[in-house]
Amino acid sequence: MTRTRVRHRCTDCGAQSPRWLGRCPECGEWNTLVEEVDDPTGRGAIVGTLAAAVPIDEVDPLGAARRPTGVAELDRVLGGGLVAGSVTLLGGEPGMGKSTLLLQALGRMAAGGARCLLVSAEESCEQVRLRAGRLGALESNLLLVSDTSLAHVVAQVEATQPDVLAIDSIQTVVDPDLPGAPGSVAQVRECAHRLVRLAKERNLAVVLVGHVTKDGNLAGPRALEHVVDTVLQFEGDRHHALRMLHALKHRFGATHELGLFEMGETGLVDVPDPSALFLSDRRPGSPGSIVVPVLEGARPLLVEVQALVSTTTAPMPRRSAQGLESSRLAMLLAVLDARAGLPLGDADVYTSVAGGVRVAEAGADLALVLAVAGARLGVAVPDDLVAIGEIGLGGELRQAAQTPRRLGEAARLGFRRAVVPVSTPDVDGITLLRVGSVVEALHAAGVRAGAD
Ligand code: TYD
Ligand code: MG
Repeated sequence: MTRTRVRHRCTDCGAQSPRWLGRCPECGEWNTLVEEVDDPTGRGAIVGTLAAAVPIDEVDPLGAARRPTGVAELDRVLGGGLVAGSVTLLGGEPGMGKSTLLLQALGRMAAGGARCLLVSAEESCEQVRLRAGRLGALESNLLLVSDTSLAHVVAQVEATQPDVLAIDSIQTVVDPDLPGAPGSVAQVRECAHRLVRLAKERNLAVVLVGHVTKDGNLAGPRALEHVVDTVLQFEGDRHHALRMLHALKHRFGATHELGLFEMGETGLVDVPDPSALFLSDRRPGSPGSIVVPVLEGARPLLVEVQALVSTTTAPMPRRSAQGLESSRLAMLLAVLDARAGLPLGDADVYTSVAGGVRVAEAGADLALVLAVAGARLGVAVPDDLVAIGEIGLGGELRQAAQTPRRLGEAARLGFRRAVVPVSTPDVDGITLLRVGSVVEALHAAGVRAGAD
């Protein structure tokens, strides 16, 4: 017998509670518990015959055949393309370009012969058609319907038999038989479950667009991330044209690839050479600027780290770290003071990464220290110099992961010298200035002459 139970789930951490509470007992957030219906029959189970268990070495690995989307940077992140029978969630803040990316990918797949069905639950067919015209996605293999009902979506799939189904967005799709408004936890989760089943039953590649709120959470349940096979996150600074695509979860490949796009007049354009892009507007010879080869996933990227130091009489000087970790900056300022005799207690320190990139790795420590010291002392580091290395509390230098690959990228872009930790092996095309400490690094980079 089927019995429907009502329970409550926190929209923040996903914890369950049999009754409603004002405050989540797990994560302590207020007013995050919402009602949801637990239907024991429909919890993601594949209905039908019981599949036979197979020896692992007899499983056909090409069961996970990939269909390239034709958008190079998207395919890079997906490890080759969309997998039949899988569900991919494309998340991002409103206005990031999710619908644009989706339409471009569908257009290319349709042009390549795939039958694609786009269910636009947010925009009218006319709106989507207008945009598709601009993006070069007017393909007769791309079918379009504007609908919000889950049952209609399933019926459309029956009627049109597509290879790829895309839904924009999952938050606007509803099943009228379930409680809750569109976008509520119960609705989003149950609709996603149904679509996952549909993908598996029909060996259909499904892409769901999902809105992410300002604080980075998927609007609606986080549980959605567990339901789907792949979670892609589309990010960028609203004021920059640069867009980054990461895989937060990927059942069919690595999650460390980064896809880069620029939003332009005719949609998203692949950025195959991001280092050149990030450095194109760099002003040479200015104190407080240095280039660091960072790693974004598997990809070495050259970015410019900048610092501005201005003296202040305020008792609490300002520290600002844009695109960098503020706790890391605080630690490095303390190291500069204690280990290199460069106090900054009387100065505001502003640091940033140019181009709207976020750098969250210790490998950028050395560059940050050189930028701050250079800004403080009014000395520019040479333009053909990069710096890479992690700094310890003793002011000692350690090697960052995959340093040679990063240096190779720097050499490719014309940098001739690099300040690096002592243990760094030689790399063709770039002269290494090997140093053991922050003090030695300041001297090697010419920020500080002699000992003082
Ligand atoms: P959109 O794909 O609608 O974002 P999302 O679906 O994530 O909410 O696109 C967002 C922005 O991109 C929109 O403000 C307009 C801009 N845009 C361009 O600059 N060029 C284009 O060719 C397109 C289609 C959009
Ligand atoms: Mg959209």
